[in-house]
Amino acid sequence: MSRIVDVNGIEAFDSRGNPTILAAVTTSDGHKSSALVPSGASVGSLEAVEMRDGDAGRFQGRGVRKALQGITQEIKGALVGKSVEDQAEIDKTLCDLDGTPNKARLGANAILGVSLANAHAAAASKGLSLYRHINDLVGNPPMTLPVPMLNVLNGGAHANNNVDIQEFMVVPSGVEDFSTAVQAAAEIFYTLKQNLASKGISTAVGDEGGFAPDLSSDIEAIELLITAIERSGWQLGEKINLALDCAATEFFVDGHYRLESQNRTLTREEWIDEMEEISSQFPAITSIEDGIHESDYEGWKKLNQALGSKMQLVGDDLFVTNPGLLNRGIADGWANAILIKLNQIGTLSETLEVIQIAQSHGLGTVISHRSGDTEDTTIADLAVGTSAGQIKTGSMSRSERVAKYNRLLQINQELENPVYAGS
Ligand code: PGA
Ligand code: ZN
Repeated sequence: MSRIVDVNGIEAFDSRGNPTILAAVTTSDGHKSSALVPSGASVGSLEAVEMRDGDAGRFQGRGVRKALQGITQEIKGALVGKSVEDQAEIDKTLCDLDGTPNKARLGANAILGVSLANAHAAAASKGLSLYRHINDLVGNPPMTLPVPMLNVLNGGAHANNNVDIQEFMVVPSGVEDFSTAVQAAAEIFYTLKQNLASKGISTAVGDEGGFAPDLSSDIEAIELLITAIERSGWQLGEKINLALDCAATEFFVDGHYRLESQNRTLTREEWIDEMEEISSQFPAITSIEDGIHESDYEGWKKLNQALGSKMQLVGDDLFVTNPGLLNRGIADGWANAILIKLNQIGTLSETLEVIQIAQSHGLGTVISHRSGDTEDTTIADLAVGTSAGQIKTGSMSRSERVAKYNRLLQINQELENPVYAGS
């Protein structure tokens, strides 16, 4: 059995140039494996806490030296000698050592880095690809390649334009396999760029690699996507669907939904009516994430009653990948799908538990990157190993986004009979 002999880390960088943790675990059989931690911009208020050094000075307070100290001075001592293959024990030790409900003492960034580096080390020790090791950890369900949701137009907190809705995604759910899905997405992405350029609209990209122009309304963004899909020769509705992430908490001001691009302020009921209208006007929209403010549970129930039988309604800031919130939401009918972000909860084991709760209750699961991300591709393996069915990891540009698609293409080739979750 392979045991942990060293745990350490360095202060590395994410895609926004902010410091992040790169954690490494070394095993008694000679493997050294590492993982990088992502970071959000539209962060849910109940997420596990990311530890930053604070104060002015280094990196305008965003350094992670304190979190690294926790790794070398406390976490290492607690983990050395433990079996790398016992992920549940490693993660429980990390949670107990931290001792807070939201990982505020050692930092969810420090804890997650070590948790994921350990999973990589265990896979290396077993001589397995990470997705196969993760598949073992969840009891070996049949694996599938996820349907990608590609955020090709960026607004909200991910761009400095006037678009209120944060993400406009293309979803190639009706194509036959994963490689065709990313081919379709790439072709739509090129066409969208050409269409924007021909109208004299900026083709600069936002944090997740989608275009980020100023537009007259969120509807214009949807129409631009539809035109790009049709002009690129892919069939809207049949092969390619659309998804939105409203990230509505970000434009909830003084108890109302404030649509800055149109200078309109809506009550919750008016906003739900608006989403219903948008969905009947554009039936290719098959998924809406965070349509309602993160703590308005009544509003979520209303939206789920209005639209939940017709489409996927994904809770991101609503559930923050937290098993307690997910169980409450299932009992109360808040949503029919959950976004899964490792760093919202802070360990691999707790993330796997949340995925299993969601799957056993028939909720959709979407594995997700963060808007500040890195070249780390763990989420690609997580999506396949747990057979999550969907992954959201940005547009067809910026290497920290495309790295996940490239990893999925490799896995697609490695699997004997790859099954695409969409076809
Ligand atoms: P974040 O946003 O990573 O900036 O929090 C992603 C999302 O809202 O899905
Ligand atoms: Zn979201």
